[in-house]
Amino acid sequence: MDYERTLAFLKEKGQEHLLQYYGELNEREREQLLEDISKIDFSAVAKVCKSEKKPGELAPADAVTLEEIEKRRGEFEKAGVAALKNGKVAAVLLAGGQGSRLGFSGPKGMFDIGVTRKLSIFEQQFNNIAEVVAKTGTHFHIFVMTSRSNNDATVEFFKESGYFGYPAEYVHFYIQDVAPACDYDGKIFLDEKHRVSLAPNGNGGWYSSLVKSGLGGIIERENIEWLNVYSVDNVLQRICDPVFIGATLIKGCACGAKVVKKVCADEKVGVLCKEDGKPAIVEYYEMPQALKAELTDGGELKYRYGVTLNYLFKIKDLNGTLSGKLPPHYAEKAIAHVENGVRVVPDKPCGYKTETLVVDMIKMMDSCLACEVDREREFAPVKNATGADSVETARELLVKNGVEL
Ligand code: UTP
Repeated sequence: MDYERTLAFLKEKGQEHLLQYYGELNEREREQLLEDISKIDFSAVAKVCKSEKKPGELAPADAVTLEEIEKRRGEFEKAGVAALKNGKVAAVLLAGGQGSRLGFSGPKGMFDIGVTRKLSIFEQQFNNIAEVVAKTGTHFHIFVMTSRSNNDATVEFFKESGYFGYPAEYVHFYIQDVAPACDYDGKIFLDEKHRVSLAPNGNGGWYSSLVKSGLGGIIERENIEWLNVYSVDNVLQRICDPVFIGATLIKGCACGAKVVKKVCADEKVGVLCKEDGKPAIVEYYEMPQALKAELTDGGELKYRYGVTLNYLFKIKDLNGTLSGKLPPHYAEKAIAHVENGVRVVPDKPCGYKTETLVVDMIKMMDSCLACEVDREREFAPVKNATGADSVETARELLVKNGVEL
């Protein structure tokens, strides 16, 4: 779009301030600004401050428990191994986050979790994948979602690490989309006079960005039916776990979620529930305290299954999540922006970043199998530098699982 048309379009949206410095820019900068503007998803911005939704009626979710899994392990594993051998499952690594809590400037997967030797989070996760490869005798495709800012470093690291022993032709990178940051009135910020403030659009963008990237062609060509989506920050992450895949297939569910029993009512994890009869993940900050603490007759937490960011989705059912139906979330942040012609870097929140979340995709599925896993064996998130869910706690758990650090 040229300047005139862009201006008219922005006026309609109440965002014409984005062109206020246009007259001061050189030709290259002007092109850059118009290109940035063309990438804005205005549907999310318009709803800022109007997003309060009423929660539906909550009920605890059923799960395949550890006991049931132990009894039926052989049956589940056989079905999962068959699906993998037939090439029906691929994995999606969510590595587009900013890892701000960890305070590590590079891609989180490059963080060295080793003590006496180098062991990146990526490498540790690929070591876990090697066990599945050994069991099935086959490789599965892995789509790696990066962000604009960490893509080059991630791709380079994979290359120089020899793809951690995995065949390079099975690893595919794509960059996630961006979403605009805006002030409390919904006015989009300029990051520089010629750049719109655009940040990664949250981990809910993984499927739409994958389709947009053109990599969906591999899925079609290879007749892949399921995607196992997982986060980069769990060093005990079990990827394409045959037991999990088999259980979800045998139970006939549209998706599956690996869950752990919460350690206490206030643990900061999203909980898999039913909302108005449909599967839903309720974030810890959204769940009423009374519900969090409610107990069963046996004295267990009623809402006890915390999600670990490891989901299995049936691809056919994911298409309904495309067309912008995921609700936007607005995270209040300190956002660098241009104010009165000068770039300011505030130290307090001044507006919102817009994100969609993978947890909201669960609500769009007809059914979701909560598959309980042993947290000591499968859940060691690296969110913070110290304290809970930190480098220290993850290292302890790795050692407990026999990983030499
Ligand atoms: P988190 O919610 O922990 O976010 O991501 P983060 O950006 O990594 O970390 P903080 O909040 O800034 O400290 C959970 C998973 O979702 C991915 C992350 O890479 C991680 O695997 N993610 C998050 C994306 O891929 N894209 C995003 O925009 C956000």
